[in-house]
Formats: sequence, structure tokens, C-alpha cells
Amino acid sequence: METLEKMTPKICLGGITKEYIAPRTGQRTLAIADVSLDVFQGEFLCIVGPSGCGKSTILNMIAGLARPSRGELVMDGKPIRDPGAERGVVFQDYALFPWKTVRENIEFGPRYRTAGPLSASERDRIVRHYIDLVSLTGAENKYPHELSGGMRQRCAFARALANEPEVLLMDEPFAALDAQTRLILQEELLRIWGEELPRAARKTVVFITHGIDEAVYLADRVAVMSNNPGHIKTIMTVDLPRPRRESLRATAEFQKLADAIWQLIRHEAYEATIDRH
Ligand SMILES: Nc1ncnc2c1ncn2[C@@H]1O[C@H](COP(=O)(O)OP(=O)(O)OP(=O)(O)O)[C@@H](O)[C@H]1O
Ligand SMILES: [Mg+2]
Repeated sequence: METLEKMTPKICLGGITKEYIAPRTGQRTLAIADVSLDVFQGEFLCIVGPSGCGKSTILNMIAGLARPSRGELVMDGKPIRDPGAERGVVFQDYALFPWKTVRENIEFGPRYRTAGPLSASERDRIVRHYIDLVSLTGAENKYPHELSGGMRQRCAFARALANEPEVLLMDEPFAALDAQTRLILQEELLRIWGEELPRAARKTVVFITHGIDEAVYLADRVAVMSNNPGHIKTIMTVDLPRPRRESLRATAEFQKLADAIWQLIRHEAYEATIDRH
């Protein structure tokens, strides 16, 4: 792996604090405090941590859906203030339009809604490419309720990709899927991301998960978060070779990394299972 430290970050979070203020009661929730994080071009960064530690808050801020209360948030040197076509988001709950078909959902990206230089045939070609890429060929005229969970998530992924973003932001995209489908989509994601491409040609991915094995399998680095208030405890480098294959999970190196991350979060994960009120 190239040395990340020598590169200019693609996305830079500098000393970010986010406090939510409830509109009616004025009640304040300090979600994250003083979070600094660099994400590099072409890297696959996973964020893990106990429930409520601020993972989605970080992702939503990078997406431009929420603003930091304090601190600096920049992409390619420019402040992030709003959502943008260069940042694609995939959520856990698919967020597909139920009244649109697979094809219409995928076509919906902002790059296509605005009248641009794309001709209808060029647009069709791009949409077809992404339908094929996520293996939804043959299902393009189906509606979301006619699809399995895995297929819906493939569709959500294709919609994000068809918009041709530079950065993919994924918030627990596989959490609602059964264990086998999840394993298959993890492999698919790495294939589509382009494990074999040089780093400069890859998309930058920020991927949130509760699954430690999932994080180690996918990531170049894993940011481990902690609670009260949310902060980054440590960042682990996953120096496992790519392309990654299923058999990697059984290796001692993989298990060692997964165990090290689990040791970092087990106490808080345990606490989160106890209702003290
Ligand atoms: N819109 C909001 N208004 C008020 N508080 C919020 C809001 N969104 C999140 N919070 C609070 O901020 C903290 C961080 O929430 P966030 O959703 O970022 O955590 P998370 O790590 O993604 O959790 P999970 O693993 O359960 O998805 C929590 O205490 C949560 O209750
Ligand atoms: Mg969340």
C-alpha cells in the first residue's frame, strides 16, 4: 500500500464538534467532539463503534446533510456545505422510490435531472452499464417491493454509482441483509470498487458498519470510535493484500486484526446492551 501520510487528503475533518439542539425544547446533545480525520483518494475507510457514538453524524456531515457546530470540513480544499453530485450516499434502508422501477430509480441521480450535455442514448448507455455492473440485468422494470433485500441494495448502489461520484458514503448498507447475502455483497462491492485498479482510479469510500469482520475485510483503514461524547479512539491500518478473497477471513492475520478491534470496543458494546434507566 502506498504511504497515505505522504498524500494530500481528499476529505479532511479538522477538530469537528457536532451538537444537536432540539428545535422545541432547546435540549442539547453533544454527538461528537473534536473529531479529526483525513480520508485519502482511493482509500476504503471503515468506521466502527458502539451505537450512538456519532458514526452517522460524521457521514451526514461529509454528505453535506448536516453542518458541524465547530471545526473544519473540506473536500479537495473546498468547504463542504451542501450535498453534491461528487458525493454519493447509500443508506441502510435502501432509500429507493417505491413508485419507480429499478431503471427509473437508477436514472434519478442529480447528474441526469439537470439538463446537461448528455443525450438520451448516452444516458441510457450509462444506466445500462450500472444495471449490468450490479447484476440487476433482467430486473430493470421491477419495482422495489418486487425485489429481495439484496437486490434493493444493489439498486441503491447502482443509483449512487450512476451519478458517477468521486466519493461513496455508505451508512451500514448491508446491515438489514441476511448473513449470506451480506458476504456476497461485500465481495461484489470490492469488485465494483475496483480493487485491482490503481489508487488514483478508485473511488474514495467511507463505509460505516457494526460488523468488525466486515470492516477488516473491506477496509484499508478502520477508524474505531468511542462514546460520550463521540470521538475517534484509534485508526487501525489493515495491511492485508488485495484483491481479497473469502479465504482471507480464516487467516491468523485477519483474526488478529478483528480481535484487536473487538477488544477496543467490547466494553462499550457490552454497556450498550444494558438498560440502566
Ligand atoms: N437529528 C438529531 N437530533 C438530536 N440528536 C441527534 C440527532 N441525530 C443524532 N443525534 C444524537 O447524536 C448521537 C450520535 O448519533 P448517530 O446517529 O450519529 O450515532 P451512530 O453512531 O450512527 O449510531 P448507530 O450505530 O445507532 O447508527 C446520539 O446520541 C443521537 O441520539
Ligand atoms: Mg448510525
